[in-house]
Amino acid sequence: MADIEQIGTFIAIPKITDPRGNLAVIEKDTVPFEIKRIYYLYDVPSGAYRGGHAHIAQKEFLIALSGSFDVLLDNGSEKEKVTLNRPDKGLLIREGIWRELDNFSSGAICLVVSSDVYEEQDYIREYTDFINSKRT
Ligand code: TYD
Repeated sequence: MADIEQIGTFIAIPKITDPRGNLAVIEKDTVPFEIKRIYYLYDVPSGAYRGGHAHIAQKEFLIALSGSFDVLLDNGSEKEKVTLNRPDKGLLIREGIWRELDNFSSGAICLVVSSDVYEEQDYIREYTDFINSKRT
């Protein structure tokens, strides 16, 4: 089993707990990159599969704002599957890591904090291209 620290890293999100409801804050020092984009997956149907790509340069930080889902991480030589199910703990995925998301619970929301704006040129969408990129 691969060490998750080599492929992805869990980061605790600072929070202010309160009987009226908790408040978690992501600000510039929470993640080790400059935040340029936030997007989220929601209304994901049961059985759906997302991801299936790597980023060449972009880093991403994933949080299960609600519900849960699984993330398969692959650095080209080792794979690790993790479950995200807490709004106060996110998963840092560095550049050059293949990821696949599935097993979304009903009502799951996946928030993604990204190091850059959307650029299709930053994607590797074919697994064979990803593996080849690791060889060169
Ligand atoms: P994609 O990143 O492949 O989604 P996922 O990894 O969650 O399965 O993106 C799906 C589509 O949405 C694709 O056509 C690109 C588009 N898209 C944008 O236009 N802007 C964005 O910021 C993102 C993340 C995706």
